[in-house]
Amino acid sequence: MIHIESLAALRAVVRDAVASRQAVRFVPTMGALHDGHAALIRAARADGGLVLVSVFVNPTQFGPNEDFARYPRTPGADAALATKAGADALWAPLVEDVYPAGPSARLSAGALGAVWEGAFRPGHFDGVATVVAKLLVASGADVLYLGEKDYQQTVVVRRLIRDLLLTTEVRVVPTVREPDGLALSSRNRYLSADDRRAAAAISRGLRACAKLAADGERRADALLVHLQDVIGGEPRVTVQYAGIADPDTLEPVTLLNAPARALVAAYVGATRLIDNILLVPPTP
Ligand code: PAJ
Repeated sequence: MIHIESLAALRAVVRDAVASRQAVRFVPTMGALHDGHAALIRAARADGGLVLVSVFVNPTQFGPNEDFARYPRTPGADAALATKAGADALWAPLVEDVYPAGPSARLSAGALGAVWEGAFRPGHFDGVATVVAKLLVASGADVLYLGEKDYQQTVVVRRLIRDLLLTTEVRVVPTVREPDGLALSSRNRYLSADDRRAAAAISRGLRACAKLAADGERRADALLVHLQDVIGGEPRVTVQYAGIADPDTLEPVTLLNAPARALVAAYVGATRLIDNILLVPPTP
């Protein structure tokens, strides 16, 4: 695996790929790589071409009271995991590479970035949109790999690509989970042993909600009460928001007449986790 050290080196790697008619398959990450990230890299590897992974803890998507400074940084382990999963090149730019002019032109994620996660993390999706646009321009990615775990992010980024007239294709990879259902996340390492056990209630609640929907409950309020009941059975977990949204517009759904997305953010102790699941009503 090549370690790309500069923008010039990145451009050279991409130029070579284009010259040899290889698609540029791009997996952006913030590092602290785990098996969820590996699933994206493996999906890219299986599709063929040049598999480019970036590791960049993007300062502009963290709020002032969030964990930017203490976000886990594990460069050695990241390189090993990326290699094993099949990456061809790893690009870990410096903040100065991505924001060469200091605080930069900033994109807005618009209304899609202001709801759900965005309501509790103002500016977060503007920072995501800004950095993803920069990374896509720099890498010339043909295909972008994103995890379903961050569902709203996939909606925001798809819209961004359309908005900016980019031609990058988006592939969304299913969420990788622990055996008890907890979605893999770089933040899981902050959980104490008791919190770790309790955290499984989030995915348990989502699965219960999806089952109720599949069994024919179409009222979003009833589905959400059930979700809250299951998660609320675990006193260490505090739901911050739970909702059911249209999968494309993210608008709240009141009656499940078509597939929708249940979205949850919850605190387990001091650690904030998010998760989501697809709800599919039975066909009439
Ligand atoms: P990060 O949290 O490192 O995640 C990188 C990618 O891995 C995202 O697309 C995310 O959805 C995916 N991912 C994380 N956990 C996953 C899991 N358990 N299963 C499947 N995929 C998973 O998301 C970001 O970084 C940043 O916002 C970024 C897009 C890199 C922009 O800075």
